Amino acid sequence: MNKIKDNKLISELEELKSQFDETANKIIKDMRRQDKIMLRSDQRQQFEYDQLQEKLNEVELLKKEIEDTQREVIYTVGAIVETRSKETGNHVKRVAEYSELFALKYGLDEREAEIIKQASPMHDVGKIGIQDSILNKPGRLNESERDVMETHARIGYEMLKHSNRKLLKVAAIIAHEHHEKWDGTGYPRGLKGEEISIYGRITAIADVFDALGSVRCYKPAWEDEKIFQLINEENGKQFDPKLVEIFFDNLDEFLEIREKYKDVV
Ligand SMILES: [Fe+2]
Ligand SMILES: [Fe+2]
Repeated sequence: MNKIKDNKLISELEELKSQFDETANKIIKDMRRQDKIMLRSDQRQQFEYDQLQEKLNEVELLKKEIEDTQREVIYTVGAIVETRSKETGNHVKRVAEYSELFALKYGLDEREAEIIKQASPMHDVGKIGIQDSILNKPGRLNESERDVMETHARIGYEMLKHSNRKLLKVAAIIAHEHHEKWDGTGYPRGLKGEEISIYGRITAIADVFDALGSVRCYKPAWEDEKIFQLINEENGKQFDPKLVEIFFDNLDEFLEIREKYKDVV
């Protein structure tokens, strides 16, 4: 009796085992198929990712190329104006570097500082519209000649104001405001204090500091002592007091820039 019972149990167990084997094999097969699908999908994703990365690199390169070209064009335009007004060598480069340093010390972020660095070389672009006899007149200008000369700020603004690009917008502001004075006695609009944008205030002091130390058709280069004295005297008159403070607090760095980009005679 027990023997019969045992045999039945064995056959049931074998049946169960065979069912189990069949199910296990099916699961293993499914898992392998799944693996293959996942591998293929991983490979496809990797391929798509690589392609995307390649495109991004191309875009980055193009962006850099555009930015470099923009910078070159701006320096070139500034240098053309400089050459026409017979100003010496690296004036616009130094103004750019001083302006960046002022911007950073003033607390503007790096992006703003970079924009002002790139835009400030165009401050005198409006001089393109001034005739040679006035632009390069040796000695002092008379009143009517000075009136003509002063139009360069507005001309520069009119030339640059149409662009939607941040860089050119800032350049337009700088061209317009770099002869405004903190106390409101500048031109063309007689703006006062913080009515003058920080871009205009910075370029104003950077431009004057550099112009005083350079030879111009109307004057020799000034000695440092005389330059520092004038900047001090103009504290709160021509220049923003905070920028005068930054200038004297960081004099070594300003002089380093002047030395690095000095004119080759
Ligand atoms: Fe100017
Ligand atoms: Fe200048």
